[in-house]
Amino acid sequence: MKAGIDAIAFQPGSLVMDLEKVFAKGRGEDPEKYTKGLGLKEISLPDTNEDIVTLGATAALKLMERENLKPDDIGRIDVATESSFDRSKPVSTYISGCLEEHFDDDFDHSNKSERKFACISGTQAVNDTVNWIQAGVNEGRMGMVIATDLAFYERGGSGEATQGAGAIAMLISEDPSIVSIERNHGYSSRDQVDFLKPNQQYPSVDGSHSVKVYLNRMRDAIEAFDKRSEITDPMEFELVPFHVPFPSMVKKAAPLGYRRAIRNTTLEETIESKIGDRPFIQNYNSGETYEEEIREWMSDLKRTDEYRDWYQSRVEPTIEISSRVGNLYTGSVHLARLSGLYYGYKNNRDLLDKKMLVASYGSGAQAEVHEEIIQPEWEEKISEMNVESKLNSREEIKSFDTYEDIHRSHKHGEDRVDPLSQTLSEFKFVDFGRMGQRVYEIK
Ligand code: HMG
Repeated sequence: MKAGIDAIAFQPGSLVMDLEKVFAKGRGEDPEKYTKGLGLKEISLPDTNEDIVTLGATAALKLMERENLKPDDIGRIDVATESSFDRSKPVSTYISGCLEEHFDDDFDHSNKSERKFACISGTQAVNDTVNWIQAGVNEGRMGMVIATDLAFYERGGSGEATQGAGAIAMLISEDPSIVSIERNHGYSSRDQVDFLKPNQQYPSVDGSHSVKVYLNRMRDAIEAFDKRSEITDPMEFELVPFHVPFPSMVKKAAPLGYRRAIRNTTLEETIESKIGDRPFIQNYNSGETYEEEIREWMSDLKRTDEYRDWYQSRVEPTIEISSRVGNLYTGSVHLARLSGLYYGYKNNRDLLDKKMLVASYGSGAQAEVHEEIIQPEWEEKISEMNVESKLNSREEIKSFDTYEDIHRSHKHGEDRVDPLSQTLSEFKFVDFGRMGQRVYEIK
C-alpha cells in the first residue's frame, strides 16, 4: 500500500534577523563569513510569547484547516523536537491541548509521542507513521508528524549565526497527494560526541568535528542506499534535499552523493576523461596522500559542467528557504523538501512521478537516505502554501540590542520581555501554572 506525505504546513518564528545588517555588524565581523561562508542571508527567531508548542500547534492547525480535518480524523500525533522543556510530559499533549481548545473537540483516541534523535527524529517519525499505515492498523485515519524546534546556541558561540526557529507539520496518509515514501532506505549510525545537550538548554558543540561526522555518516548512508538500490544515473532523482544546518554544509555533502551515484557509469568515464581517474584508497600507501588527492579530485569534480548542472537543478532549490530561515533542527530536511517542491512549482517544473532522494541527518550521530516519488496533486498542494508571503510577514529585528533581549528572554529561568510583533502564531505562551506546566492561550 502506498503511504506518504499528503499535506504540509510551515510556521517560522515571527521574527527575522538579517545577518549582514544586524548580526555581523553587532559582532563587528565580516558579513561575508555568514553570507558566503555559511550561505545564510537571514534567520528566523521566535518572538517572546512563542515556543515549540505555539509554533507546532499553529503549523498543525493550518494543516488541519486547509485539509478540512477534525480531531477524529487523526490517529497519531508524533512531535519531533530537541528543544523540549519537560522530561516526562510530551510536547504532543501540549499541542493537542491547544488544538482541542480551538476545535472544541478532543484527540482522546489518537496515539501521541515525543521523539528524540537530534535532527533526524522528524524523519524517523515520518517513517514510523508510514509503517503504521502500511501495517493496516490506522483504521482509515491519518497521522500527523510535527517537527518543531528553537535552534538556539549559547551567545558568542560558533553556531550562533546558524540559529533558527520554526515548525513543519506533515499529514501522513494512504494514497498521499505530495510524495510517497518508498521502502528503499540506507542507514549509517555511530556513537559520536559532536553536538549534544546533556540536561542543558543550549548545545555543547564541537563545530568542526560535527561537520566531519555529518560528512562521514552521510557518505556511508548513501553507500548503503546505493548497495540496496543501485543508482545508475544521478539525474534520475529530480530533487535531492539534505539536512541543512546551514546551506554551505549541503555544498560540502552533495559531491559525496554525486561521486557515489556516477560510480561505474558512462558519466563517470566522461568526467574522468576531463579531470583524471578518481583516486582509490587501495592504491595508496599513505592515508594522508590519499586524502590530499581525493580532496583535489573532488574540487575538480565540483567545477565540471556535469556536476554544476546536477547541483543547480537538483540541490540548489532545496536550500533556498533555509538560507532565509537558518537551522530548524528536526524540521530542516523537511523544509529542504518543501523548498525544492516550492521552487519546482514556481519554475513550472514537471515533477509528476519523478523521484527524490531525501538525505536526513542527526548529530550523535545517524544519517538516513531514502527515496520518495512525487504524486499527482503535489503542485496544487504546494501552491496553496504561500511560503514567500509567510517569510515576508516576519517582523524585522532592527538592532543587535533587540536581538540580545530576545535571546535572553528565551533563556530558561529569565524574565520574558514584551513581544516585538503581532506574532504570526495562532497560540501564545502566557505563563507557568501551579505545577510548572506551560500555559497557552489562543491569540
Ligand atoms: P566557524 O568555525 O566560526 O566558521 O563556524 P569557519 O571559520 O569554519 O568559516 C565557515 C566557512 O566560512 C569556511 O568555509 C570559511 O572559509 C568561510 P569552508 O572552509 O568550510 O568552505 N569564511 C568566509 N568566507 C567568505 N568571507 C569571509 C569568511 N570567513 C570565513 N570573510 C561552524 C562554522 C560549522 C563550526 C559553526 O557554524 C557551528 O559550530 N555550527 C553549529 C554546528 C553545525 O551546524 N554543524 C554542522 C554539522 S552537524 C549537524 O548538521 C547537526 C545539527 O543540525 C544538530 C542536530 O543534529 O541536532 C547541528
